[in-house]
Amino acid sequence: MADDMLQVDRVIGQRLNSDVALINQISSYIVNAGGKRIRPRLVLMFSEALGFAGAERFELAAAVEFIHTATLLHDDVVDESSLRRGRQTANAMFGNAASVLVGDFLYSRAFQMMVGVNRMHVLEVLAEATNVIAEGEVLQLMNMHDPDLSVEDYLRVIRYKTAKLFEASARLGAVLADAGPAMEEACANYGRSLGTAFQLVDDLLDYEGDTLSMGKMVGDDLREGKPTLPLLLAMARCHDDERQLMRHAIEHGHTANLEDILAIVRRTGALQATREAARAEADKACEALSSLPDTNARKALLELSARSVERNF
Ligand code: IPE
Ligand code: IPE
Ligand code: MG
Ligand code: MG
Repeated sequence: MADDMLQVDRVIGQRLNSDVALINQISSYIVNAGGKRIRPRLVLMFSEALGFAGAERFELAAAVEFIHTATLLHDDVVDESSLRRGRQTANAMFGNAASVLVGDFLYSRAFQMMVGVNRMHVLEVLAEATNVIAEGEVLQLMNMHDPDLSVEDYLRVIRYKTAKLFEASARLGAVLADAGPAMEEACANYGRSLGTAFQLVDDLLDYEGDTLSMGKMVGDDLREGKPTLPLLLAMARCHDDERQLMRHAIEHGHTANLEDILAIVRRTGALQATREAARAEADKACEALSSLPDTNARKALLELSARSVERNF
């Protein structure tokens, strides 16, 4: 996809432009740090899988990456994170106010680009996705420091905050190709399952990954008191005194016991179980592709879902 991704990067570079110097500085700071660009790839892969080759696909791929980047700018402020894509976060470099405002710039620029594509359904899909992401982040805020969070409520947060944009990106390929409602749903289902698997792995890596390959700090979730699946599963499986230790860490966001908690999470098999949950979602994603024509793009989508379970960054 290298050539097509170069086109996306070209659109990204063009559309980042503003007369306001600080906007250019911060937006290029985070955009040039790279990132995996998975969501724009989904737009392109589904467009290709369904036979759409118009230039609008680059515009929408870039718009989706802008929405993602805006969520990251806001998320790092909310999470008080210090490292992203191997660099200091924008909030650490330029401050919270500037990060939030440039995030707003990126959101609204994405909407200008969508309007430019001139299709009501595209706007509908991305307006809904953006709104649901915001709901997900607020839901998660409400769940913070709650060791009694149910797995169901945890999954709802990740469907909203992460899977929704994957779903929208995949769906856009079908929308551009005018592939019809049934095909659109199949693509959306793939995106939703892949996005869920992707966030499950993200939550896993927060415990077993390493800062250098992830470009983000290990242990951030515990520091924030975020009850993610590795912790929820470990708490259901460990001894009473260990459960008390973990509850305390979630309630107060203590990382002093990170090593002990990591040992409990490992011993109880919670990391493995989280990876298996991700694998099950990735399998669901593959099943959703059964009605797509047999193309190289479809093969690549199958591979993407397998790789996102094994990834370490
Ligand atoms: C990070 O997304 C936020 C999550 C949903 C876990 P990515 O892992 O896609 O971030 P980049 O764009 O590659 O940096
Ligand atoms: C991802 O949430 C942010 C959004 C999808 C809005 P996290 O807070 O779990 O992701 P990282 O670990 O900071 O990338
Ligand atoms: Mg975060
Ligand atoms: Mg967050």
